[in-house]
Amino acid sequence: MQATCSAYFSTNILMITRSAPGKLILCGEHAVVYGQPAIAIPVDGVRATAHITAQEQEGVVFDAADLGERWRLEDRPEHPLSRLFVATLQRLGHREPPPLRIELHSSIPVASGMGSGAALAAALVEALAVYIRGAEDRQLSPQQVAELVFESERFYHGTPSGIDNTVVSYRYPIWFQRTPTVPIIEPITVGGCATLVVGDTGVRASTRTMVEHVRAGWRADPLTFDHLFAQIGQIVQSVRQLLGAGDMHAVGQLLDHNQRLLDQLGVGSLELQRLLEAARGAGAWGAKLSGGGGGGVMLALVDAQGADTVRRALREAGAVQVIETVLGPY
Ligand code: PMV
Repeated sequence: MQATCSAYFSTNILMITRSAPGKLILCGEHAVVYGQPAIAIPVDGVRATAHITAQEQEGVVFDAADLGERWRLEDRPEHPLSRLFVATLQRLGHREPPPLRIELHSSIPVASGMGSGAALAAALVEALAVYIRGAEDRQLSPQQVAELVFESERFYHGTPSGIDNTVVSYRYPIWFQRTPTVPIIEPITVGGCATLVVGDTGVRASTRTMVEHVRAGWRADPLTFDHLFAQIGQIVQSVRQLLGAGDMHAVGQLLDHNQRLLDQLGVGSLELQRLLEAARGAGAWGAKLSGGGGGGVMLALVDAQGADTVRRALREAGAVQVIETVLGPY
């Protein structure tokens, strides 16, 4: 999967456009915060985009119409995207911000577990790098982008594992595991083909709140929670092997099992449950929430022929948006 990048020149306008995909956590969320592995995939059908243009008047203007926000860098230096802008500029060896207009758009559902914040941040970092450095061979590496985006994720999430910023920067399915030093990041091989049908409950849930909720449970009963995290870690190991072998039916069963453990962590919800049951009833191989939970999105693994039936069932069960993406060889 390639990032989308383009530059338009007219008499006196240079516009740099860069976009980054949304993401889904296939399995392992929450346990990944405690050192277990997780698998995440980019979702190219929904994207965040940054357009950067030079402007004549001094200063930097951010215009994020989809978020209902417009601000000047000097007025809101504490805004996470202002901070990210300054950090990226420094990383690129620039101190003084050039006069710029930065337009941000996103088709990724916000606060729903699809990585909208991380994708916006990655698009901004990459667009700025292209604007400042120009030549492709002097661009930031995916790892450098991921590190910059991680800093802005910390603002929103408190103690993020690092999986969201990594998958939207690398743009291929990843195995991700936190360690006391650097995280383990490996590409995932997918040997078969399936469709992921994603249903949005329309309930916006804060990842930070859900992560804190799990942490409170872990503090109260570390033995039980450590055991649940370890079981999720084993599921992720098995899913990796089954994906490589192309046994999507068996992957589906493990996703159902992962959901039962997520319910025990206390991150399910009635709205999620309704969509999960609808997807299974419509013939999905398996289904689970994706991301922080408490609302947000769920995913169902289905064969390509069954996708329409599951899509309809999710709509009838109240999904406010349904997105499809292919899980197959990259
Ligand atoms: O809700 P999202 O898309 O930000 O996903 C969060 C995944 C968690 O495992 C719950 C938190 C994390 O930082 O990994």
